[in-house]
Amino acid sequence: MIRRPTDIVKTLLEDIVSAGDTVVDATCGNGNDTLILATLAGSSGRVIAIDSQMSAIEATREKLASSSGLPTVELNHDSHDNLTQIVGGARSIRVIVFNLGYLPGEDTGIVTQPESTTSAIGQALDLIDVDGAVFVTLYPGHAGGSEEAQEVDLLVSNLDPKRFSVARYQWINQSSTHPYVLIFHRRS
Ligand SMILES: C[S@@+](CC[C@H](N)C(=O)[O-])C[C@H]1O[C@@H](n2cnc3c(N)ncnc32)[C@H](O)[C@@H]1O
Repeated sequence: MIRRPTDIVKTLLEDIVSAGDTVVDATCGNGNDTLILATLAGSSGRVIAIDSQMSAIEATREKLASSSGLPTVELNHDSHDNLTQIVGGARSIRVIVFNLGYLPGEDTGIVTQPESTTSAIGQALDLIDVDGAVFVTLYPGHAGGSEEAQEVDLLVSNLDPKRFSVARYQWINQSSTHPYVLIFHRRS
């Protein structure tokens, strides 16, 4: 099956995350990505989830409560630009996931912002383990989304290619406002 950009991350996570891994969801929202991460990391894994909205933290808590065999997920009501502080001494982080934009069904004015997003992604790239990956789903279609996407693309162009390979998954013949995914693979 051909995966849409918004669906490809789940498939890629299944390839890269193993039982016992430490993983981070930097925008947990309704908890869909956190549940995927927690299921893959399993009861021996460590899962850290972050969202700046309390309603998202509660939605994620509720989503996780209906599944068994998961690790205790560390839920952080905080901004992801405090990422380094939030993960503390966590080492060997396998993946960090960002799903940008607003919480579906909630106030569309509460949305990820270019400055905090690029700060958080920069920290994620420093924290990720060698051979780990940072996944970022971007939504240029909403108000402010294309400016945020431009800032993230700029960050990519300034990365050392010896340290990171970056892939982009996108429909290239559709509107430029369609969502797309960046995959940062840490090489060294
Ligand atoms: C597209 S939603 C995430 C969807 C989520 N991954 C899921 O599986 O349901 C984007 C989320 O980013 C959150 N957000 C916005 N700014 C943030 C920030 N500075 N730090 C952390 N989360 C933020 C929003 O509250 C919203 O829940």
